[in-house]
Amino acid sequence: MTSDNRTVQYLEPLNAKEAVGKVAELFVDTFGAAPKGVWSAPGRVNLIGEHTDYNAGLCLPIALPHRTFIALSPRKDTVVRLVSDMGDKAVTTTDLEDLKPLGVKGWGAYPAGVAWALREAGFAGVQGFDAAFVSCVPVGGGLSSSAAMTCSTALALDDVYDLGFGGTDAGRVRLIDAAMRAENDMAGASTGGLDQNASMRCQANRALLLDCRPELDAVQSAKQEPFNLGALGLELLVVDTQAPHQLNDGQYAERRKMCEDAARILKVKNLRVTADEIAASPDPFQALKETLDALPDPTMKKRVRHVVTEIARVRSFVRAFAAGDVTEAGRLFNASHDSLAADYEVTVPELDVAVDVARKHGAYGARMTGGGFGGSIIALVDKGQGRPVAQAIADQFAHRGFHAPRALAAVASDSAHKEA
Ligand code: GLA
Repeated sequence: MTSDNRTVQYLEPLNAKEAVGKVAELFVDTFGAAPKGVWSAPGRVNLIGEHTDYNAGLCLPIALPHRTFIALSPRKDTVVRLVSDMGDKAVTTTDLEDLKPLGVKGWGAYPAGVAWALREAGFAGVQGFDAAFVSCVPVGGGLSSSAAMTCSTALALDDVYDLGFGGTDAGRVRLIDAAMRAENDMAGASTGGLDQNASMRCQANRALLLDCRPELDAVQSAKQEPFNLGALGLELLVVDTQAPHQLNDGQYAERRKMCEDAARILKVKNLRVTADEIAASPDPFQALKETLDALPDPTMKKRVRHVVTEIARVRSFVRAFAAGDVTEAGRLFNASHDSLAADYEVTVPELDVAVDVARKHGAYGARMTGGGFGGSIIALVDKGQGRPVAQAIADQFAHRGFHAPRALAAVASDSAHKEA
């Protein structure tokens, strides 16, 4: 160890009882009265199936034990007042009346956007609200801090305005739509649904096999797969590289648009159709080659190859994991990362180095998770190996002059719920 190496910081989830007390206190201090209630929603890690959601593909998230807590009271007017322990505790205020897409600057766009989206969807009874947030989901870590915020807000508004959606999975899909619209239309981040579905639909000790074909109903779109790593003697390490992470800087939207352009050239409604045709053909390897030959542009070929092979990897991972084949599951993690690095080109040096160190220190497999361009990696390791692997990554980061990473242990946790 060199002198600049330090013990890697581990992010522990907030204790729910303490967090409820803390967020209620912030609410009272800011708005001068007790909140109507407290709700929470988790961040997520996606096990595999990256950049597939907006291609109507498959993904496999789990909810983190790290959550965002919201204390909220409805208002009789259309004003929204917000405060959070994540920034300087200044109150941000906006008005839902005459609000237009992209009409709120800063983080307030996320919660205000949810109320705006519900009103746009015809729930005119949704009025303004006061809300306070306390969170332990790292911001900018690619672990869906924004979905934790929009989904906790959606569930709180559902409850206080009696929309009746929060109690069923099908109802939650309606709230997910509002959370997605908030991110897409108010915050200007063209995300694809993975994060909000994870935050609203995941279950403890389960991974959510999410099928993003728009024609599916709630039942058809989700399958709960057993995911109890402890029982297999494993753990899932998450390392937030702390490399700068931005989804709305154009790179994500550019990837998305190229996939849509490719689908048009291939004369399919989305790349999922192509992926399914290739998977069903007698010689998938040849079928993929023919598909790629039909595309004009070398970059587009790479993007499509990632999407098609990644959807296949989700299926293989689910099969391997169910069979207890950890080696194969790890191999699929690695293949996913390599595809995201070489074909989809969404990794940065911090992600590649973290993955490389994890693999060299005994991980069964390691990959970036989330949108990329910064954010986090996950590594499947033997129980007890999370901390040493995280430390090895931190040491290598110090050696290279990268920001100090932060680590956390991912245990498949519960979706958004009412706390108090
Ligand atoms: C981000 C987006 C998701 C998804 C992932 C990539 O997290 O918010 O919708 O597209 O990137 O899988």
